[in-house]
Amino acid sequence: MTQRKILVTSALPYANGSIHLGHLVEYIQTDIWVRFQKLIGNTCYYVCADDTHGTAIMLRAEKEGITPEALIERVRQEHMQDFSDFAIGFDNYYSTHSPENKEFSNLIYCRLRDAGYISSTSVKQAFDPVKNLFLPDRFIKGECPRCGAKDQYGDNCEVCGATYNPTDLKNPVSVLSGVTPIEKESEHFFMNLGQFEDFLKTWTSSGTLQAETMNKLNEWFTAGLRPWDISRDAPYFGFEIPEQPNKYFYVWLDAPVGYMASFKNLCEKRGLDFEEFWSADSQTELYHFIGKDILYFHALFWPAMLHGAGFRTPSSIFAHGFLTVDGQKMSKSRGTFITARTYLNHLNPECLRYYFAAKLGSRVDDIDLNLEDFLQRVNADLVGKVVNIASRCAGFINKRFAGQLADSLPAPELYQSFIDAGQSIAEQYANREYHRAIRDIMALADKANQYIDEQKPWVIAKQAGSDAQLQQVCTQGLNLFRVLFSYLSPVLPVMAKKVEAFFNVPLTWQPAALLATTINPYEALIQRIEPQQLTAIVEASKENLQAITTATPAKTLAEPIQETINYDDFAKVDLRIAKIVNAEQVEGAEKLLKLTLDIGEETPRTVFAGIKSAYSPEALIGRLTVMVANLAPRKMRFGLSEGMVLAAGDGSGLWILSPDSGAQAGMRVK
Ligand code: MSP
Ligand code: ZN
Repeated sequence: MTQRKILVTSALPYANGSIHLGHLVEYIQTDIWVRFQKLIGNTCYYVCADDTHGTAIMLRAEKEGITPEALIERVRQEHMQDFSDFAIGFDNYYSTHSPENKEFSNLIYCRLRDAGYISSTSVKQAFDPVKNLFLPDRFIKGECPRCGAKDQYGDNCEVCGATYNPTDLKNPVSVLSGVTPIEKESEHFFMNLGQFEDFLKTWTSSGTLQAETMNKLNEWFTAGLRPWDISRDAPYFGFEIPEQPNKYFYVWLDAPVGYMASFKNLCEKRGLDFEEFWSADSQTELYHFIGKDILYFHALFWPAMLHGAGFRTPSSIFAHGFLTVDGQKMSKSRGTFITARTYLNHLNPECLRYYFAAKLGSRVDDIDLNLEDFLQRVNADLVGKVVNIASRCAGFINKRFAGQLADSLPAPELYQSFIDAGQSIAEQYANREYHRAIRDIMALADKANQYIDEQKPWVIAKQAGSDAQLQQVCTQGLNLFRVLFSYLSPVLPVMAKKVEAFFNVPLTWQPAALLATTINPYEALIQRIEPQQLTAIVEASKENLQAITTATPAKTLAEPIQETINYDDFAKVDLRIAKIVNAEQVEGAEKLLKLTLDIGEETPRTVFAGIKSAYSPEALIGRLTVMVANLAPRKMRFGLSEGMVLAAGDGSGLWILSPDSGAQAGMRVK
């Protein structure tokens, strides 16, 4: 087989939020593929970067009182730590706010402009007269023009599903200042996607795209390719457009260019040949792993940009679906919006890598993290099957034979069947059918365990004069284990390292049997997942929420009304009138106030409430409000919270409840 040269990317995560388990579907999927390619001997580079530009990042930095540069650097460090802890093996992790990216963005733009693909027209857009900036759709809210639902974003209605322009919203307000946006004209630059229609149709029909992707593209072709607005007005955090003062590249223009820039930066570090990978006649392969939500950018704009500017186009785009947790969209209030860091605080990252691998295929389907199934599967497969093989054999070799493996296998045909299975497992990995690879590997693990069950080394160990047989059986078991781990190593690279250290030799694909060498003492590779660890992750994720409720414009309004309950369900909630006897700031908490609540008990309750943005402590002291008195106490970073106060909110503010006059502290609300 001739060695392939492959460049692989994952989408560049935004620099204004933490990495969460949804993101990790993609980075884990890509990392497994890259590790597999490297393992079988191909040259493969994996590059990524933070996506750092745009209004949202500019405003967040402003809010934090720091420069956007300081913000994106801090977030980049945080992201890199998360990725490295999940064993995502980037060859380079860069930033779109880099000199290379500026240079390539300018170059591509200038080539497109000179080739006649760019035009400009005046556009009317919503403008915030207080903040003095044009408002991205997500920063405008109002009533849906179709169904009248309140509190909808400027681009689509989450109640009836209508899509529209922000100018169509009724009673629009700027999320930033609360004022009514005005309409203002300004000149915008457009890339004329329609001019690329023939090219794009040829490119997409090259036969390498997923069927679902092809369907989407055909829909888009039928709907017509509209010009793409690639400019934004100052103030904007991004790159200024050459010769167009105060006009900036829209973040999505320079974001994919970030793939090139990160690779260029890698070339400088390692002395690689950039042209070999990016010139129009490149013989190398280029693959972008992305989520289904950003297909339009990668399958239409990006190839058009590359083609128009005289670069190579992607060999394929590998799109994946979205992560759900327990069958539902990740939810902050249910505690299933789990960040990489929260997970890492409680569990081994390779459990998640394994679980995702066991579920991932080549299609664009969503994948579900079912917490119960996650625990079962990891415990049954990794602990119960794979690791079990080693722990059943290693002790005998170490204790009885000073770590020395036998010099032949008692069941060479069994070993050979494991090696032969490598062929189709390799195909499954290459085709991104990881769930199939895992299924086949686990079937081999079953066979290995069956072999040990039949041979019963623990029985042989007690028979006099059976030393050679014991050594051979255990050598067989350990060799089977080693083949399994060479197949699992793209998924479990950290454990694979430990397995290499145990055997004293690197893992290779379809390895020759290891005989007559000395192995090291065996150390446990993985702990069982305990149910409490999962509960703790969910609890900690809810806790994160308490600190961020006010930061996230309440999407809750758009959430459907809960299912009908009977009175008994309702009556389980013990609501009480509470007198706020004290309220104070919490050192180190961004969103919380510490409330002392009298509900007629001997000692007043302490409750941490995420209402700091809406109330000063002084304004609260002495007031009556409503609290949930029988909510299980929750340990927070700042102390124990013994209940919850009720508040309404819609992103523009937050309002706690008060009873009519006459109500007394401690009265039940029902
Ligand atoms: N910055 C853009 C990508 C620019 S690429 C030139 C972006 N960033 S993102 O942070 O929102 O998402 C990064 C990747 O993670 C995307 O491919 C996205 O589809 C993926 N995911 C984000 N949330 C996800 C889930 N809940 N589930 C699976 N993938 C998800 O988009
Ligand atoms: Zn609507």
